[in-house]
Amino acid sequence: MFYPFEMERYLETLLGERDPLLREMEEQALQETIPVVTPAVGNFLSLLAAMNKAQSVLEIGTAIGYSTIWLARGVEKSGGHVTTIDMNKDRLSRARGYFQRAGLLEKITALEGDARKILPSLTSGYDFVFIDAAKGEYLDYLKLIDGLIIPGGILVVDNVLFRGWVVPDSNFAPKYERMVGGLRKFLQELCANPDYVTSVLPFGDGVSVSRKAEKGR
Ligand SMILES: C[S@@+](CC[C@H](N)C(=O)[O-])C[C@H]1O[C@@H](n2cnc3c(N)ncnc32)[C@H](O)[C@@H]1O
Repeated sequence: MFYPFEMERYLETLLGERDPLLREMEEQALQETIPVVTPAVGNFLSLLAAMNKAQSVLEIGTAIGYSTIWLARGVEKSGGHVTTIDMNKDRLSRARGYFQRAGLLEKITALEGDARKILPSLTSGYDFVFIDAAKGEYLDYLKLIDGLIIPGGILVVDNVLFRGWVVPDSNFAPKYERMVGGLRKFLQELCANPDYVTSVLPFGDGVSVSRKAEKGR
């Protein structure tokens, strides 16, 4: 493992007490093995969105809405809105329940369906995009969001180091070969893309942060 579990736990202690709703969601996710961002990554998303005073956030991969709530809280003060997409009907309906309990129902639009079909139908410019859905589809999402994210906008992608296996010469089961290969290609393309300045952070499961270039720069 590239990043010790103890380190993530330690970062979590530095966050202090999270509210009971987020705690409940963390427990649910753990019990049902729903892969949600770690609390440290959730806090980072919230901070980054707040720092950028994001107005229009797009999330691909809602699950039960844990990262969505971190994002929505980050942009609450600046009056931002979060649009989130998931193809799993049951998870999305549970996410809506959590949004309501968090008092964020009006700040979040939850769209049900395959992101690869929904993204081409979106028109508005997003200033913050968070990708956290099927790892094998990251390159597809990247192509589809490019026209949606405004110049100067922020793109954050989770799981880009996938348990550290994306690092060359890592040992992992053959069944993960395609996923790891896809993530390596994704990172290569993203980091080499002259329209984005990217930094990869080795915490959580690996998080990339990119800023789309302003026009004419
Ligand atoms: C890792 S979970 C998202 C976790 C969430 N971002 C969080 O941290 O709380 C990934 C989600 O992406 C959804 N998903 C996978 N492929 C998708 C696709 N093509 N379109 C929409 N949703 C997709 C799955 O149903 C799953 O709920």
